[in-house]
Amino acid sequence: MRKVREGSAEVFIPTEEKISKELPVFYNPAMKLNRDISILLLQQFPSMNICDLLAGTGIRAIRMAKELKHKSIAANDNSKKAFELIKENMRLNKVKFSVHNEDANRFLLNSKGFDYIDVDPFGSSNFFLDAAVKRISRNGILAVTNTDTAALTGTYPKACIRKYWATPKRDYMMHETGLRILIRRVQLIGMQYEKALIPIFSYYKDHYLRIFFKCIKGKKECDKVAEQHGVLNNAGPLWLGILWDKKLADKIYRKTIGNKIIKINDNKSYDELLKFLKIIKEESKINAAGFHDIHEAAKEKKLKVLMKKEDLIRKIRKIGYKAASTHFSGTGIRTDIDYKRFLALLKG
Ligand SMILES: C[S@@+](CC[C@H](N)C(=O)[O-])C[C@H]1O[C@@H](n2cnc3c(N)ncnc32)[C@H](O)[C@@H]1O
Repeated sequence: MRKVREGSAEVFIPTEEKISKELPVFYNPAMKLNRDISILLLQQFPSMNICDLLAGTGIRAIRMAKELKHKSIAANDNSKKAFELIKENMRLNKVKFSVHNEDANRFLLNSKGFDYIDVDPFGSSNFFLDAAVKRISRNGILAVTNTDTAALTGTYPKACIRKYWATPKRDYMMHETGLRILIRRVQLIGMQYEKALIPIFSYYKDHYLRIFFKCIKGKKECDKVAEQHGVLNNAGPLWLGILWDKKLADKIYRKTIGNKIIKINDNKSYDELLKFLKIIKEESKINAAGFHDIHEAAKEKKLKVLMKKEDLIRKIRKIGYKAASTHFSGTGIRTDIDYKRFLALLKG
């Protein structure tokens, strides 16, 4: 074992350098951003009863114990080694919460429920959705990570149909359509229990998709969710509604500026996070499903000279439409302008 620092926590992790499922206990430093955002988001809500369902080394729960004010935490992992390590890491950090060594579904179903459930599995969250949805409280937040992006973004379309009940499309917009397919899949489970799951903060990063859903109880709310399922860019059915609560996106960004805990020993991850959250904060203000892509449009119209993204955004705004970069693609613009006008501006 060796020690690493992340945020306010210091934890023991396996000595092996290669990040894989085969690690005795799983820890991926690249997921610091995922954990940072979870904490920044939870800091915007009052007292929460938290469940770190698939806790690994316990790093997420330990950081939550140290970095959130009002909370009660339960961490669970079915691996005996992980269970022992979480307890050791808890002692190392001088924090206390309940630690469990059960199958995740059994643990949830035997519990009274939680205000926040974090589902961070290897691959698909599918296996845990039913129990997580059952045990998420009214107005609670369900956080879901999926790392099986190959299915959701169209490398394996048949796997997507089997697992996510929708057809993906492998093109410039695949990460957004994949995310929206996953959102609908989780929402369909929610609707079975009359729970409307509304995305309040969603993103794609590196090898994974991440969504925070607010849970609202009610048949009418579920009907409104279903009305927003449809097709986008020939992919779907998928969720066509909002991906972010724009006020929340703004608060999370502000909370990150100069954040000393995120910066500890790690200015690089701080810079990356701040840049990422700034893009999301801006695109969250634009209520449009999908985006236009400069390279795609130029290829389609055989345009030789490419306009800079920032210049095009300025032009779109100048004629009264909204426009911003999107975190889904370096050459994409989220905007409420139609494609015809977008092309006309791009042609100059
Ligand atoms: C991706 S890791 C979690 C990483 C952790 N959340 C973090 O932020 O570092 C997934 C964890 O789920 C655990 N796991 C897999 N299947 C499980 C199940 N059915 N019930 C409980 N835990 C399970 C694994 O032992 C592993 O530690």
